[in-house]
Amino acid sequence: MDPEYLTGIDEIDAQHKEIEEAALAVIEAAAAKDKWHIVHYILVRLYELLRFHFAVEESVMSIVCFPEIQAHKQVHKDILLTVERMKVASLDPNACANDEALNKQFSFLTHIVDHDKRFAEFVLANFSGLRH
Ligand SMILES: [Fe+2]
Ligand SMILES: [Fe+2]
Repeated sequence: MDPEYLTGIDEIDAQHKEIEEAALAVIEAAAAKDKWHIVHYILVRLYELLRFHFAVEESVMSIVCFPEIQAHKQVHKDILLTVERMKVASLDPNACANDEALNKQFSFLTHIVDHDKRFAEFVLANFSGLRH
C-alpha cells in the first residue's frame, strides 16, 4: 500500500490492505474473464469488508472529532452504492469482463482508499502519540 495513505492506526491500515487485496482480486478476476459468479463472490466479499471498515472508520472519526466527518461519510455511502451496483451487475451471466463500462468501474477500485488521506493527516497530526 502507498505509505502516504497510512493512517497510523494499525487496525485501519490492516483493513485498508485487505480491501486493496479484495479490490485487486476483483480486477484480476474480471481481466482473466473468470466466470460471473467468481467475480460476484469477490465483489460480495469486498462489499462486506467495506461495510465493516466504514463503520469502524466512522467510529474513530467521531471519537477523534474529525471535522470533515459528514463529507467523509458521504464518500463512504457513494462507494458502497457503486460497489452495490457492481455486485448486482455481476449477477448477469452475460456481463462481459471486456465491456468498456465495466472495466471503467473496476479501475475505480484501485483508488478506494485514496479518500482517507485527509483523515490520515488529521490523525497523524493530532494523535501520533497514540501510535505504538
Ligand atoms: Fe478507509
Ligand atoms: Fe474512509
